[in-house]
Amino acid sequence: LPLGAIVNVDDFEKVAQSYLTPTGWAYYSSGAEDELSLTDSRRLFRKIAFRPRVLRRVEPVSAATKILGLESSLPLYISPTGLGRYAYKDAESVIARAAGHEGLIYCMPTTAAHEAVFNARTSSDQPLFFQLYANRDRQKTQVLLRKMEKLGAAAIFLTVDSPVLGRRERDDRVKVADGELLSTGVAKASSAGLLNPLLTWEDVDWIRRDTNIPIVIKGIQTVEDAILAHKHGVHGIVLSNHGGRSLDTAQSPILTLLEIRKHAPHLLSNETRGKFQVFIDGGIRRGTDVLKALALGASAVGVGRPFLYALTAGYGERGVRRLVEMLRTEIETNMALMGAVCIDELVSEMINSERAERD
Ligand code: FNR
Repeated sequence: LPLGAIVNVDDFEKVAQSYLTPTGWAYYSSGAEDELSLTDSRRLFRKIAFRPRVLRRVEPVSAATKILGLESSLPLYISPTGLGRYAYKDAESVIARAAGHEGLIYCMPTTAAHEAVFNARTSSDQPLFFQLYANRDRQKTQVLLRKMEKLGAAAIFLTVDSPVLGRRERDDRVKVADGELLSTGVAKASSAGLLNPLLTWEDVDWIRRDTNIPIVIKGIQTVEDAILAHKHGVHGIVLSNHGGRSLDTAQSPILTLLEIRKHAPHLLSNETRGKFQVFIDGGIRRGTDVLKALALGASAVGVGRPFLYALTAGYGERGVRRLVEMLRTEIETNMALMGAVCIDELVSEMINSERAERD
C-alpha cells in the first residue's frame, strides 16, 4: 500500500498485521490473558464526549507544548517498545531520527542499542528519554545510569508495572508453534531477566539520589500510588498499564486519571505541573484521544504500538513521519473544532465523562 493511501492510525495496524511474521504480530499486538485491559482503554476513550465551545476565533492553532521543560511540537511522546527489529532494521534509531525531524521526544527502551540511538539524532541537542528496567543488581543499574548521564538522556522513565512478565497467551501460542516454549510453559530465553520483582519505593529513592537526571515513574495505576510518587519527589508519572500487557483487567489509565481528578486534583494543577507532570499511555490512536487526556489534566500522552506498525512494510522513517503528520492534523483540526487555539485552553469543562464513569 502506498503511504499516501494510509489516512489514519488504524490503517497502519492493518498493514502491519499482513506484513509482520506471526511471531512479530503476536509480540506487538497482544495483551495479557483475555486482553480486557488492552481493549478497554480504547473503548473508554470512545465513551468520553466533548463539550466544544463555539465562536472563538480559532486561527492559528498551535499544539506545541513542553514536556519536562523540553519543547515538543505536539503534546505527545513516543513510548518505549522492545524488539523493534520485527518491524524494521535498527527500528529504535529510525524512530529517534524521525522524532528529531518532527520535533517530538522518543523514550528509548532499556533494550535499545543506546549509543546508536543517540547517534541517530538529527542534532546533538535533540532530547531523548530513557526507559529503565532497574536490575536486581544495583551495580548494573548504576552502570546504565552513568552511561545515560554521559550520553545526555533528558529523563529516566522507570517502569514499575511489570515486576514479573505478564501472561500474553497469543505470544505463547506462537512460541509453542515455533518450538520456543518448553512443555513446562517457560520460555527458553525471555525478557523476564530484565524485570525485578524486588523493586520498591526505596529503590526509587536510591535512583533519585544516584543521578541528577529527572525521574518519571512509568506504570502508576491508582491515585494512591500517584500521591506516593509525588511524595517521593520524582518529576512525573505515566499512568499506564503497559498497554494491557501486564495485569489483565487492571483499570484503564484514563480511569486512573479520573480518580486523580476526584481525589487528588492538586497533582494536576498548574502550580504542581512546573515540578511534577502526569502523563498517560495506552490505546491512544486518535487526535481526539490526546485532547481528552489533556483536557482531563494530563500534560502529554505516550503512543506505543502505532510507531512499530508505521515502520513495517518497508516504510521505515517515512512511515513514522507520516504517522506523526496524521496525528498532528487530527490534533490541530479537532482543537479548532473544540474552540481551543493552544494546549492551555484545553480544560475539563470541555469534557463530559459521565458515560465513561457510569460504565
Ligand atoms: C511495550 N511497552 C514497554 N514498556 C516499557 O516500559 N518497556 C518496554 O520494553 C516495553 N516494551 C513494549 C513492547 C511492545 C511490543 C509494546 C506494545 C509495549 C509498553 C509501552 O511503553 C506503552 O506503555 C504501551 O505500549 C502504550 O500502549 P499503546 O500506545 O501501545 O496502546
